[in-house]
Amino acid sequence: MRLLVTGGAGFIGTNFVRMMVREHPDIEITVLDKLTYAGNADNLADLPVHLVVGDIADAPVVDRLMSKTDVCVNFAAESHVDNSLNDPEPFLHSNVIGTYTLLEAARKYDVRFHHVSTDEVYGDLPLTSTEKFKPDSRYQPSSPYSATKAASDMLVHGWTRSFNVRATISNCSNNYGPYQHIEKFIPRQVTNLLSGRRAKLYGSGENVRDWIYVLDHCHAIWEILQHGTVGETYLIGADQQLSNRVVLAKILSRMGQAPDDFDSVADRPGHDRRYAIDASQTIAELGWQPQYTDFDAGLIATVMWYQTHRDWWQAEKAAVEANYHKRNQ
Ligand code: NAD
Ligand code: DAU
Repeated sequence: MRLLVTGGAGFIGTNFVRMMVREHPDIEITVLDKLTYAGNADNLADLPVHLVVGDIADAPVVDRLMSKTDVCVNFAAESHVDNSLNDPEPFLHSNVIGTYTLLEAARKYDVRFHHVSTDEVYGDLPLTSTEKFKPDSRYQPSSPYSATKAASDMLVHGWTRSFNVRATISNCSNNYGPYQHIEKFIPRQVTNLLSGRRAKLYGSGENVRDWIYVLDHCHAIWEILQHGTVGETYLIGADQQLSNRVVLAKILSRMGQAPDDFDSVADRPGHDRRYAIDASQTIAELGWQPQYTDFDAGLIATVMWYQTHRDWWQAEKAAVEANYHKRNQ
């Protein structure tokens, strides 16, 4: 099998490519990645994969690569909500035009296409309810990021129904683990503490996220590629709902800080209250099950990864924090 992984130098893409090389060394992997601030070629440098630096919205590049592939998994996207509030344009370019460009080439060469999407397309849930997102929950995105991901999902549906593109979509909850960019909640707090800064909690900290260890997400995608039904949407989650305040308390405790050793900072505009995934249909159809269901153990492993990989994040830290500071002025 020849596999094209777009966005393979980002957080989840890197974990997916590394998992595939480890567990399926027979598969020929090409990565197409623009290497934005969120992509890092060093993540893949020790692997026998072919890295093409390029844009998924660049039709000639995409056409050339799709003509030589059997399967394409699309991780490439602008992925950070806060950035989308600051400047939505790159989100429209990569998430919407980029997905359109990939779909046109998948259609031309009849490539099996999997689109990696997010639970944020469904908007948010009340803090007090026990409701969860299901595959047929209504799309009601809250941010420019989630609006462009919702648009990309709609494009996939349209191309599947009208042009018979052999596509599937997965909508996953919040991932954590190694190689996540330090702009994101868990790595930001861990690297704040490791670099002598204080942790930053948005608003009340009562917002809830449904955490999944990144390798569980990657394994689910591989199951979908092998056994998924074309045209289907698969929800992926590990049923680990925790408020940001609770996650931060765990990080502070693990890193030997006092429970109140953080700053409460301005809330994110439009901040989604709660996400929760009902993955029962995915589990029933594919037999996939999350393996890393002990959040505390996964968090400790993640903290240790950032402790032992300072070279991976240190050079960028000051600029990332300066950027956050500028936005909050
Ligand atoms: P990330 O920001 O860490 O990585 C994105 C990668 O895509 C980077 O390597 C970047 O260089 C690349 N990229 C961006 N625009 C590109 C373009 N136009 N052409 C080629 N490459 C481009 O993101 P992530 O957290 O790894 O997320 C990967 C995918 O999974 C995204 O589609 C995101 O919406 C989705 N997702 C993420 C999560 C999460 O918790 N991180 C959860 C559910 C779904
Ligand atoms: O649900 C899936 C989504 O999860 C993915 O689609 C996105 O790509 C991914 O970035 C993530 O989105 P969130 O907005 O939930 O993740 P983020 O890490 O930005 O924030 C997690 C929560 O923590 C959120 O409620 C905001 C809060 N937060 C975030 C930062 C960066 C803080 O309290 N302090 C912070 O410094």
